Amino acid sequence: MRTDTGQVFKLEDYRPSDYLIPAIDMAFALAPDATRVVATLTVERRQGVAAGTPLLLDGDELKLVRVEIDGKPLKEAAYAVTPDQLTILAPPAARFSLTIETEVNPSANSALMGLYRSNGVYCTQCEAEGFRRITYFLDRPDILSVYTVRIEAPKAEAPLLLSNGNPVRHGELAGGRHFAEWHDPFPKPSYLFALVAGDLGRLADEFTTMSGRKVELGIYVEHGKEALASYAMDALKRSMTWDEEKFGREYDLDVFNIVAVSDFNMGAMENKGLNIFNDKYVLADQQTATDADFANIEAIIAHEYFHNWTGNRITCRDWFQLCLKEGLTVYRDHEFSADQRSRPVKRIAEVRTLRAHQFPEDQGPLAHPVRPRRYREINNFYTATVYEKGSEVVRMIRTILGAEMFRAGMDLYFERHDGDAATIDDFLKVFEDVSGQDLSQFALWYHQAGTPHVTVSSAYNASTHEFTLEIEQSSPPTPSESRKRLMHIPLAFGLVGPDGEDLAFGEVSGATVEDGVLHLHKRRQTVVFKGLSERPVLSLNRGFSAPITLSLEQKPEDRIFLAGNDGDAFSRWQAFNTLLTDALIAGFRRMLGNRQPEFAASLGELAGRIAANASLEPAFRALALTLPAEADIAREIGKGIDPDAIFAAREALARSIATVNEEGFRQLYAELNSDGPFRPDADGAGRRALRNVLLDYLALLPGGAEFAALHFASATNMTDRAAGLTALAHRHAGTPQAVDALARFENEYSSDALVMDKWFLIQASAPGPAALDTVRGLTAHPAFSIGNPNRVRSLIGTFAGANQTGFHRADGEGYRFFAETVLEVEKRNPQVAARLATAMRSWRSLEPVRQGKAREALVSILKVEKLSADLKDIIERTLA
Ligand code: TRP
Ligand code: ZN
Repeated sequence: MRTDTGQVFKLEDYRPSDYLIPAIDMAFALAPDATRVVATLTVERRQGVAAGTPLLLDGDELKLVRVEIDGKPLKEAAYAVTPDQLTILAPPAARFSLTIETEVNPSANSALMGLYRSNGVYCTQCEAEGFRRITYFLDRPDILSVYTVRIEAPKAEAPLLLSNGNPVRHGELAGGRHFAEWHDPFPKPSYLFALVAGDLGRLADEFTTMSGRKVELGIYVEHGKEALASYAMDALKRSMTWDEEKFGREYDLDVFNIVAVSDFNMGAMENKGLNIFNDKYVLADQQTATDADFANIEAIIAHEYFHNWTGNRITCRDWFQLCLKEGLTVYRDHEFSADQRSRPVKRIAEVRTLRAHQFPEDQGPLAHPVRPRRYREINNFYTATVYEKGSEVVRMIRTILGAEMFRAGMDLYFERHDGDAATIDDFLKVFEDVSGQDLSQFALWYHQAGTPHVTVSSAYNASTHEFTLEIEQSSPPTPSESRKRLMHIPLAFGLVGPDGEDLAFGEVSGATVEDGVLHLHKRRQTVVFKGLSERPVLSLNRGFSAPITLSLEQKPEDRIFLAGNDGDAFSRWQAFNTLLTDALIAGFRRMLGNRQPEFAASLGELAGRIAANASLEPAFRALALTLPAEADIAREIGKGIDPDAIFAAREALARSIATVNEEGFRQLYAELNSDGPFRPDADGAGRRALRNVLLDYLALLPGGAEFAALHFASATNMTDRAAGLTALAHRHAGTPQAVDALARFENEYSSDALVMDKWFLIQASAPGPAALDTVRGLTAHPAFSIGNPNRVRSLIGTFAGANQTGFHRADGEGYRFFAETVLEVEKRNPQVAARLATAMRSWRSLEPVRQGKAREALVSILKVEKLSADLKDIIERTLA
């Protein structure tokens, strides 16, 4: 494990390397405990660099076996070596060949970075800095090399030998061994290197690109699971077609392979021609995967595939530019899913994710700009800000420039930067060049952390027919940025008339208004719309055009009107969601004052009307009827959080909505009970989502346990089964029905690790103080493993990240358990431990008693000696 050195990397320190490595040949002799790697690097001194300048190569826990230059062993005095660095003190020429042999131990690699074994399969993970755990190298993304890779292994153990690029040759060797050679003609950074070797089953297919080139597609999974990869394969072919149609991007190798492994630190990895996936995002069928799983698989298959152009063909100059590939690629996968499914439903889901994950990050101690300026551990910057806010920034560029100009900019980006290691400035420049617009104020979205806040009030003057908006923007301070500059905020809007249609208006003063978008550039703007003969209702930030928080002074009647009538589906959802949130906050305050919450009857009635409105998609209705989560309510309240009071207020609102609508909900529930064949598409998923939201409400009424038990027992797919189990375990814990269902589920799926993750997750998220003992107990369950990231995330990550009342127990025991467990995980896998630890990022918003206990737990982690760079960085920033 690499312990913390305290070194800080800064954007302004970027400097091109002294040497280049245009080509690398690698030969792997695979063995579980002692794999030999011979790397032959073609090294070139950069123009203008003095002869004899030392060459410093990165390593990480490496063991050097030999080093040669131009085929001759290097004298000891000619180099210096540690596990973390190899220095060639005085390289002999402007161009030479450097051969390095290292020995690595894949079996002992529990950090899952570099070359490791998962279920007996050799695989690699090199992003961000894992390649240096395989060989000494200039392990930085601006070093682009052509890779030729030879893999040798015992044939029985590893009949399959894969690497990047195209297959060149393969053959038999003495002693039951065999080899394969791969060549990737596209120069790439080391973080995109990959190797897989093992005994796996293959699902094969093919794709013909728009220019008529045939590509062989392969998805490799555990033997016997090939059929479970068919949805992923279908998603891959749809992604390939979509990128051709929407961005003119064609695939560029003869083969495209995907391998599913069961031990993986993140979701998936876009290695050139050889994507490696967490098997959770490949394997699915109706009996084992939920609709959410299917949607995730579709999105992540697309995401990694789209990286071939946004990430691989055009890569990042340095890791500060991570959002150049990630934000842009998330934007592309969002658009893909919107086109494959329902655009408004997808947008609402995206915004919910953004608010749930990115907003708390941006509003807490871990806040950083989309393009950070400094980091201690790059692994900790694969964040919701870089990914999700990064995508929102790209979306805003499109909103500002319009669809056509945006596409022209993207075309120019691909044309101008193909083969480059580029920067965010390069990216912004293409849009400035095609449009002639100055995007310098807009660029602050990349450079300035924090969620901008906009307050708006409006007034209508019936005699002058003027509608006036008073708008003010502000950005709260974030760590190391106390003073903020003013942003360019594009707000899509409509002035809605009594019939629900947008009203036409005349002259506008005080802001640029174009194509339904109002552009804010200043701290305060008074915007006057002329020529309105009736009072409009303002619909603002339609489609969530800007990722801001908005305080809009608006009467409840106007919100109710928008919830039913706004032409923009997102805004209809938002209007109702705001009504619910306001009611829940009021309920929370009453709870704190020892009063029972009360809710306006109009809210329950509106919920009933939305549920019954057959002109709305079921998936939209399901989202509208889903109450804001406890964490959403906490975020809106901001400070002095008592999770128990929030839970009680939310339960009370749910019960009141269920009680008022019992008859209608039961009837609709019955109607949605379709017996047709299972389809994982948007329509099928939408109907199940609505029915399962109704289940959540009905489970709260008398007879709820029996109702949920019947739902569980009669389920014909995992979506419904998991929903039934959740209703039982969360609302009827300890009842015979809940106990029985948990046992049946466990019995049925004990040998399916991915399904057991759901069983862990459901129990880890059960509200109330008892969850802690349950989770503690489950860490000893035979299906649990502290070394497997999926298991850790589903049990520990869910408990700490998604169980407000259980984790934030007033006695602080949840935090103590958390500190212990994070340290236990860290021993094996610092990256996963650090991510787990971000669950504490909002600790300062808790009420004082919990805050004190949370702080104690964080401090206890810091007291441990030799913390990893990953964990130390997160804990120190969280406490700062
Ligand atoms: N680049 C990967 C993605 O598509 C992210 C990733 C996968 C990653 N594995 C990783 C990042 C390990 C850091 C470490 O989004
Ligand atoms: Zn990515």
